[in-house]
Amino acid sequence: IKDELILGIETSCDETAVAIIKNGKEIVANVVSSQIESHQRFGGVVPEIASRHHVEQMTMVLEEALEQGGLAVEDMDAIAVTEGPGLVGALLIGVNAAKAVAFAHEKPLVGVHHIAGHIYANQLVEELEFPLLALVVSGGHTELVYMKEHGSFEVIGETRDDAVGEAYDKVARTLQLPYPGGPYIDRMAQTGTPSIRLPRAWLEEDSYDFSFSGLKSAVINTLHNAKQKGEEINPDDLAASFQESVIEVLVGKTLRAMKEYGVNQVLLAGGVAANKGLRGALQQAVEKEGKKLTIPPLSLCTDNAAMIAAAGSVLYRLGKRSGMDLNANPGLDI
Ligand code: KG4
Ligand code: ZN
Repeated sequence: IKDELILGIETSCDETAVAIIKNGKEIVANVVSSQIESHQRFGGVVPEIASRHHVEQMTMVLEEALEQGGLAVEDMDAIAVTEGPGLVGALLIGVNAAKAVAFAHEKPLVGVHHIAGHIYANQLVEELEFPLLALVVSGGHTELVYMKEHGSFEVIGETRDDAVGEAYDKVARTLQLPYPGGPYIDRMAQTGTPSIRLPRAWLEEDSYDFSFSGLKSAVINTLHNAKQKGEEINPDDLAASFQESVIEVLVGKTLRAMKEYGVNQVLLAGGVAANKGLRGALQQAVEKEGKKLTIPPLSLCTDNAAMIAAAGSVLYRLGKRSGMDLNANPGLDI
C-alpha cells in the first residue's frame, strides 16, 4: 500500500511552519521559522509584524520542508492548514498559501483547529488510547478536552480570563524578565521556596474552568506592597509560589476529570507543557492512579506544523474536506 503523505501549514501566531507527515505519525520534514526576536522588544506578539513575517517566510519555509523530505507537492495526499483560532492576519497567510498549493496541484484541502493540532502532537510520540483527556496549556489557551474517539473534541473546561502562558508572561514582565517569560519563571521556581501565600482559583466546586488573572494580580500586588513598605521579596520565592498555585489547580482539575470521565490516558500539550514543575507534578499524579501520561518533546509542544499535519491526517481519513472558500477564523470553536 502507498504511504499517506500530508503537508501541514501553521501560521496562527508567531511561528511560520510547514511539515510533512507519513501515515499520520512519522515526521518526514518539519520546518519552523520563529519570529520571537522581532516581537521581544515589544514584550509580546504584535499582530501586524507577525503577518508580515509570515508573508516573507512562507515560500521559503514551504520549499525547505519539501527539500528536507525530498518530495514535491505532487506526492502529497492532502494539504492541512490551521484555520483558527489565532491572529486573523497571521492565519490568513497560511490559509491562502494552503489554498494556492491545493488548487494548483488539485489536492484535497483540510482545515485544522489549532488545539486539535496541539493534541495530535502526541500521536507523533505514541498511539492514542480512547477515551482520553488532554490538558492544552499555551500562551493563548488553557483547555481541558475530553476525546471519546478520533476527531471528537469536547471542551469540558477552559480559562475564563488569562491563558496559563499569558499569566506566566505577565508575571515575568512584572519581574522585568524578557519575553516570553515562562521559561525564566520555571527556572527561578526550581531554586525558590513557595513561601508566599497566593490564592488558588478553584471556582465552583464542580467546574473544570480555570482563571489565572486573580493570581497574576495577587503577584503584582505582593510586589507592589513590599516595595511601598520598603521590604525585600526574593523573586525566586515569588516565582515558586506562583508556579505552585498554577500547578496545584491544573493538576487538581485534570485529576478530578480523569476520574470522572474514566480515561486511561492523559495528554499534555501546548508551550507550557515545557514547564518542568508541571510535567513532574502531573506525571506523579497520573501514575499514582495507574494511568498513562503522554507529553510530546519540547519541539512538538510549541507551535509547529507537524502537529497540524498529524491532526490533518486523522481528519482526512475521517473524510473531512475543506473547500476553496476556506477562511481564517480567529474565534473558531473546536
Ligand atoms: O504553544 P506556544 O508556543 O504558543 C502559543 O500557542 O501560545 O506557547 C508559548 C507559551 C508562552 O506563554 C511561554 O511563556 C510559555 O508557553 N512557556 C512556558 C514554559 N516554556 C514556554 N511557561 C511556563 N514554563 C515553561 N517552561
Ligand atoms: Zn499553540
